[in-house]
Amino acid sequence: MTETSLLSKAARACPYHTYRQLRATAPVRFMADQDIWVLSRYEDCDYVLSNPERFSSRESLSSKNAYRNCSAALDVLSNSRAQPRQRTLILADGESHKRHRKAIQNALSPARMLRDFGPTIEGRVNSFIDAFVEDGRCDAVSQFAIPLPMSLVARIFDTPEEMIPTLKGWSDNFFAALSGLMPDEVVVRAARDTLEFEHFILDRVAVRRGKDGTDFLSRLTNGVDGAEPLNDAEIVNICSQILVGGNESTISMLGNLIHQLATTEGLQEELRADPDRIPAFVEECLRHEPPLQAMYRISLHEETLGGQVIPAGAKLMLNFGSANRDEKFYADGESFDLDRDNTETLHLTFGRGRHACVGQTIARREGVVAVSALLDRLDNIRLDPALPPVRAKIFGVRGFEGLPITFDPRG
Ligand code: HEM
Repeated sequence: MTETSLLSKAARACPYHTYRQLRATAPVRFMADQDIWVLSRYEDCDYVLSNPERFSSRESLSSKNAYRNCSAALDVLSNSRAQPRQRTLILADGESHKRHRKAIQNALSPARMLRDFGPTIEGRVNSFIDAFVEDGRCDAVSQFAIPLPMSLVARIFDTPEEMIPTLKGWSDNFFAALSGLMPDEVVVRAARDTLEFEHFILDRVAVRRGKDGTDFLSRLTNGVDGAEPLNDAEIVNICSQILVGGNESTISMLGNLIHQLATTEGLQEELRADPDRIPAFVEECLRHEPPLQAMYRISLHEETLGGQVIPAGAKLMLNFGSANRDEKFYADGESFDLDRDNTETLHLTFGRGRHACVGQTIARREGVVAVSALLDRLDNIRLDPALPPVRAKIFGVRGFEGLPITFDPRG
């Protein structure tokens, strides 16, 4: 490992000290242990996101290509019903990205999402709280942060909530493989799950193709409002992005929000006294602790960034966790500040430009509704002194695997 490594035990437990060092000493730095250029300043990340014709997204999700070196996984994937396999949307560039983006925006526009899924969020949040409120304690991840986004994903795929454990299992395995730093058996399991997930989606697509349904899969399949119809391989790839994007990062966001509430003196009282500040709280938490700490790009040309010459074909890690605290853009960016004006400098937590997150409106709504309901129904939310929180272990993810909390039910 290099002297400054993002893979060290300390950096993986809390990366922000390493990020600060990188911004100060080597804001554009080649990390030999990951074979990757790490961009830690806001303006360099912004430049790359804003110039998609110079930086490809074809491996935007992982620090290494999870499948490339695993022939057993490639063998499994060769049995896919949706051939040839396609890279879409978050993994696509240029015209093909434009085509997928149009299709998904029609199927999942912010207005449509809020109209179709807003009531689900509000109804489900309270039913999850009902299940643990009298206990005075719960695991905020498994009992709250996971079920909420998963119930939404189930609605997006128009499938009963009984499917949630299966969907979550698939998503966990896809996501684990994406980190690119996992053993082969994890990658092979993800490949097997990919085939199962594809069957699940394609069976649903088959009964919707050519019909005039209005649910997400019907709209995606049939190409409405000027979007072109998509083929099976494109649909399954986009749906896997909805499955993972729709829940994993939202789960982390919810865990981070609850952790912040439980550990910041006076915050619960402040927000209860003035609930109009809850959106600002969600935004500051998204800036301060981005659930996805980085996205990746490949340089298509030789580039000079931060005085460093980066060759064509190099892998770049856009370090959002660092950019969001860059002292040039944020006064005292390391600290969590409820009064910070996050409209002044927009954080990079949802990316920027052509690939900016299509689910950001719904994710923010989930955050605001969740925090409002928790504050409404629980007093004195604290970390459970007997059970410390467990951090997510996947590289580049900032969230929790377990977050035991205690509280008093509010009358
Ligand atoms: C707090 C929660 C979320 C975070 C932090 C997050 C983060 C991101 C980021 C950083 C990108 C940009 C990727 C890039 O530039 O390479 C992105 C794209 C995307 N997100 Fe999210 N996301 C969240 C929630 C969601 C939700 C709820 C959905 C769907 C229901 C979703 C679906 C997508 C999709 C499909 C893309 C690809 C867009 C494109 O490439 O054009 N995300 N997300």
